[in-house]
Amino acid sequence: MAVPHLKVFFVVAEAVPYAKVGGLADVAGALPKALARMGHDVRLVLPRYSSIDEARFKLSARAEFAVTYRGQRTKVGLREILGGNGIPVYFIESPPQFQRPTIYGQPDDLDRFAFFALAALEAPRAIGWQPDVVHAHDWHSALAVARLRATRAGPRPATVLTMHNVQYQGNFGPEWPGQAIPDAGTLGLDRVLAGGGNHSMLALGVANADAVNTVSETYAREILTPEYGYGMERLLQSRGDRLCGIINGIDYQELDPATDPALPVHYSAERSAPRAMNKDALQRRAGLPLKAEIPILGMVTRLADQKGLDILAQALPAVLEMDVQFVLLGTGQPEYHKLMREVADRHKDKAAFVEGFDPSMAQLIYAGCDVFLMPSRFEPCGLGQLIALRYGAIPLARRTGGLADTVQDCGESLDRGNGFVFERYDAGDLLACIRRAAQAYQKREAWRQLMVKGMRLDFSWDASARKYVDLYGRALEWASEDRGGAAQ
Ligand code: GLC
Repeated sequence: MAVPHLKVFFVVAEAVPYAKVGGLADVAGALPKALARMGHDVRLVLPRYSSIDEARFKLSARAEFAVTYRGQRTKVGLREILGGNGIPVYFIESPPQFQRPTIYGQPDDLDRFAFFALAALEAPRAIGWQPDVVHAHDWHSALAVARLRATRAGPRPATVLTMHNVQYQGNFGPEWPGQAIPDAGTLGLDRVLAGGGNHSMLALGVANADAVNTVSETYAREILTPEYGYGMERLLQSRGDRLCGIINGIDYQELDPATDPALPVHYSAERSAPRAMNKDALQRRAGLPLKAEIPILGMVTRLADQKGLDILAQALPAVLEMDVQFVLLGTGQPEYHKLMREVADRHKDKAAFVEGFDPSMAQLIYAGCDVFLMPSRFEPCGLGQLIALRYGAIPLARRTGGLADTVQDCGESLDRGNGFVFERYDAGDLLACIRRAAQAYQKREAWRQLMVKGMRLDFSWDASARKYVDLYGRALEWASEDRGGAAQ
């Protein structure tokens, strides 16, 4: 069946290659490209952060318009660049909100992103383009969805809200919306609270979007429980079949060990032997002894509780007594920086900690380590395990969220699944799983076959992009029902 070509407007706080904090940026970079390849007219809008490199990205001035926020009219600029696959990317330029040292973590983040979400909605009019679907992501742009539903004058685009992580909600106190958004009632805040949702931007979006999704099927079920719902479970349950899960893909053009410019040596599933030279290069760069025969455990992660760093910290002393090496790259919570620095200092010949974000080192870890660790407490999708598979590192993961949907245990003889899986969020279980992987590494031929099998799997965006197009179709129907009937 031919799908009509849709005009889809992504409203998002980060997207590669312009601004990146986490996996959200990768999705916002790659999904639009996959949709554009299918013939859809996809455009993005982001804040114009001061960190965006003007020398590298030539942003041209496109329009100017006024945004009313907290009763004040502010002029903003709209800048534009043609991104990958000819996708127009727009930037809301408003220095008071976005000329800041970091993308997130400013004391007025709520106001900054409420302003962004409202300004983003003005952009299509300013450029004379009418989207069919507004696709918002996470709490930063959720207000756009609520605002569109509250504006009942005339037809409106359908709205889809994708939650990449339900823990981050943009929570506010009861007094906040009154000052910032005088019509919070019409945005459905009363309904959110009555439905047992939190005072939060994300809840406003969840209550009002025509369709809500998250980034794997398992996580979409998990968030209906108190353990994973972070206070949103009842509101999420109330959305019934309007909530679904669609697994993320990764960009198979950008992430290809046969062409990746960050790698000293290229390789592929067909020619996997040269991968060993990347292991060598990784050991060299990490300052570890050059030993081909012992497995390297690798990790590229935000240093956050979500990622399982507390159980890892408990397991590490015993792990580092084994014949393994460990390399971790990441930034995040200061306590984990301190901890990882101590571990690396104490075990100089076995452990290395690369602080900060070094993209070429990250790629070298995927291409050089043997086992890629993801012991997450929860994981909406997880992209690291998909990149690891593509690059020939065997993922070792806790069975949760998107990890459960993409990593299956290879069993004793390594001839099933694609990785190593443990169930309980527990340091002992993680340690046992690492021990099993380190022993399995010695079965060289079975390991090589497992690795090549992983490299041949397809986690590209194409299948998931088709699921998004179906979801857009349903959202369009639900939006027209919603316009016909009264607001529930
Ligand atoms: C968030 C989630 C991660 C997911 C990513 C992209 O970073 O924590 O699991 O893969 O968003 O959707």
